[in-house]
This record gives sequence, structure tokens and C-alpha cells, in this order.
Amino acid sequence: MPNASLVIANWKMNGNRELTKTMSMALREKLSQLQKVKIVVCPPFTLISELASQCYYDDIAIGAQNVSEHTSGAYTGETSTTQLQEFGVSYVLVGHSERRQLFAETDDKVNEKALATVNAGMTAVICVGENKAQRDEGNTWKVVAEQAKAALANLPKEKAGKVVLAYEPVWAIGTGETASPEQAQDVHAKLRTLLVEQFGAIGEKMPLLYGGSVKADNAAELFAQKDIDGGLIGGASLKESDFVAICQAAQG
Ligand code: 13P
Repeated sequence: MPNASLVIANWKMNGNRELTKTMSMALREKLSQLQKVKIVVCPPFTLISELASQCYYDDIAIGAQNVSEHTSGAYTGETSTTQLQEFGVSYVLVGHSERRQLFAETDDKVNEKALATVNAGMTAVICVGENKAQRDEGNTWKVVAEQAKAALANLPKEKAGKVVLAYEPVWAIGTGETASPEQAQDVHAKLRTLLVEQFGAIGEKMPLLYGGSVKADNAAELFAQKDIDGGLIGGASLKESDFVAICQAAQG
């Protein structure tokens, strides 16, 4: 029986003011049935303010898709933790594969962003995942472990409550090709062990999300896995009915 606790929408560079309205209305109408699930919506920066003003419910949080590792200064085009917090942002996606691939974010940069996020008191959703060639070569765990260890470096135990790990196999993102529940659980179980090794008992409770072509019709079987505590949803988070159905699947 699925019983996931956290579902995060990553709108990427999609959406407009109209979507903030329709999505917040849809979530408001269904919210009473979703008490066990925390929902986070990460719109583009320009829509954060509008979405925050519409989503004033305890169970819905606003996330950003990126943040600067710097606190302020001459960093044209960047946005700081403090600036995000001023608009009610409490979650930040860090190290999404698109940031790694298209914007040259290194493991070190991901680590700096994760530290900046948790030190500001926000939750860092750290994304890790192998590409198709790495999987085919049998290097899935090697790649994922390296990314996770680097991203979590120097994160003190007392900040563990502000860290979420999201396993997003690159080959499953936006392709319609989902990892099977067994493939995802296999990596999640290993990530669980890694978290416990670094953070101790609290590692058992740190949310592990799966992302990569999660849809209304495959969410329940993914969320039913022991170490899958929720999802990071791209394309299906842009349609209210699909996203609501995924949140309902998480509720079980
Ligand atoms: P899709 O759900 O569109 O595959 O995207 C997943 C993702 O990248 C979420 O961060």
C-alpha cells in the first residue's frame, strides 16, 4: 500500500500565471483528502510570488529550482537564499541533472548550493542519477554514490532534517521510460544505507524521492516500494488532474 510523504512538482521552464491559479485551486479542492502528503511546487522564479500568495496552506510549500551558493553581490542573473526566503520559498532543488548537464554544475557546486540552502534553514532536494550509458555499463551505483557523497559532504548531522535526496535516472527524465519499481527500489535501498552511514538513525527517516516519467498510472507502484518516500514530478506536474492523481497515489 503506497504511503509516500512528499510529492514535489518541478515545472522546469514551463507554466504561466494562469497555471498558478488553476493548480492552486485544484490543490485546494483536493487538499482535505491529502493530509498525510506534503506537496511542494517549484515554479520558475517569476511565478514564485504569485504562487506563494495563492498557496497559503500548511501542506503546500513553495520551492525554487535553483539557488546561488553566494549570499549577495555581483553575480548577474543569480538569486540568493535570502531573496527566495523573502517570498516564502522553503525548498530548493539542487543539482538537477539538467543543471548538471546544460549549465555545467559540478559536484562541488552542487555541494556548495546544498550547504547554502540548509544553512539558510531551507530544505535542499538534492538530485542524483545516472545516464543511459552509465547504466548500460553497470555503473549505476558507482555514479549515484559518487554524486550523493559529494553533494552531502560536510553536511552536519543536525542539518539532516533539511535534506531530501531525489533519485532521477537521466534516461527516465522526460522520456516516458520509467525505472521499474524494482530498479528504483534497488538504488533507493543503497541510498538509504549511505544516509544512515553518514547521518545515523535519522538517515532512516530522510525522504528519498524517485523522479523520471512518474505519471498518474505508475505512481502507486513506485510509491509502494519500501524506500521510495515520494516523487519529483516534471511533465505530469503541469496538468492539475495528473498531479492531483499522483498526490492521491502517494496518500495510498
Ligand atoms: P519528468 O517527470 O518529466 O520525467 O521529469 C522528471 C524531472 O526531471 C523532475 O525533476
